[in-house]
Amino acid sequence: MAQVSNWQLGRDMEYPYEAPRPEKQFCMIMDTNKCIACQSCTIACKSTWTWGRGQEYMLWNNIETKPFGFYPTGWDVNVLELLGEQEWEGDVYAGQTVFEAAPAGERVLGWQPDQADWAYPNIGEDEPTGDATEVTYIPDKPHSMMWMYYLQRICNHCTYPACVAACPRQAIYKRPEDGIVLIDQEQCRGYRKCVEACPYKKSMYRPTTRTSEKCIGCYPRVEGSDPLSKGIPMETRCMAACVGKIRLQGLVQVEPDATWSKDPTHPLYYLVQEEKVALPLYPQFGTQPNVFYIPPRWAPRPYLRQMFGPGVDAALERYMRPSRKLLAVLQLFRASQKMIFKFDIREGPKVGEIQVGGAPLELFNDTAIGYDSQGREVVRVSVEEPSFERRGKVNSL
Ligand code: SF4
Ligand code: SF4
Ligand code: SF4
Ligand code: F3S
Repeated sequence: MAQVSNWQLGRDMEYPYEAPRPEKQFCMIMDTNKCIACQSCTIACKSTWTWGRGQEYMLWNNIETKPFGFYPTGWDVNVLELLGEQEWEGDVYAGQTVFEAAPAGERVLGWQPDQADWAYPNIGEDEPTGDATEVTYIPDKPHSMMWMYYLQRICNHCTYPACVAACPRQAIYKRPEDGIVLIDQEQCRGYRKCVEACPYKKSMYRPTTRTSEKCIGCYPRVEGSDPLSKGIPMETRCMAACVGKIRLQGLVQVEPDATWSKDPTHPLYYLVQEEKVALPLYPQFGTQPNVFYIPPRWAPRPYLRQMFGPGVDAALERYMRPSRKLLAVLQLFRASQKMIFKFDIREGPKVGEIQVGGAPLELFNDTAIGYDSQGREVVRVSVEEPSFERRGKVNSL
């Protein structure tokens, strides 16, 4: 059992697998406020990687409606119930992780979905909750209404993967160059301990090959070996296809203790570590996931706190009243297929003033510039969208 530091828990924890830390970590942010559940991401992944026999119910990317949507059924409520009390003392997690709560003889606390659990991938879609007889809209308190929101889910390429810890064959590994977690199909013998252990249920069994499979982080694109990318790291298929422009992805530099190296001009570092506007999903599981979420503004805060941890209120405060810099950086979401490694802001004129929470918020037409891994400019996007007026006849009528 290794003693490791987990910055998302604010404390050290025990992890039953010793391995050197990767130099860089593949990670991403999803803005839940912007997702329209079009499932373009789901289909982009499925049509690229899981269209074969035995993969019919295999969705490495899925979008589910919270609180009633699950894939597989009950994936999160089951593990939350098994885990028991999950208290935070300030920013420090006082409960047990899935490693610390493992039953005797097991490395990870988990459960095994049955076939039926995988058979309803979009169950609960668009089902709201709340008391319809008491719906009153209170300005600035949108969660006084009935609510639901979309949760975008892929493998978290966890810093401390439960799947890696649980596999008796050591068939799963975390790549040193980018932290992407892969299952070696030659090594795997279908024991499914990874499926049982992953608290996010993102390792999936394929009966035709009798092996498990999972999101591969579109590693050819991340490596720059996709023919389109000409050697430059690109965003993955599910990211590049996102119609709602809710996603931003990249590689961050990590220290030997698994904290992120200070890099305030990296958009992911800035959003996750400085602004703290994007939060991990169920940090209490202890795997230190690398997918981060800007929480939905309109869902009840207690529900969001149990899902994203104690940083929810501060994150939403900053998101709803963004600084000039934050508003500009948020424009970089899905602005380029190439991964952005550095950003810069050019200040523009004041273009408006709105009321947020009863106080004025000034808006400026600032421009965010994104640079690729070679320091070359790949995108330039401003707060105010440019508009163009077409002149004369525009169609055949
Ligand atoms: Fe493994 Fe699950 Fe973490 Fe993915 S989300 S790395 S499958 S533990
Ligand atoms: Fe699928 Fe690639 Fe997205 Fe993983 S990163 S869910 S493999 S499209
Ligand atoms: Fe949401 Fe984007 Fe996926 Fe559409 S493509 S469901 S907007 S994450
Ligand atoms: Fe290991 Fe999972 Fe295969 S536990 S053997 S990677 S099914």
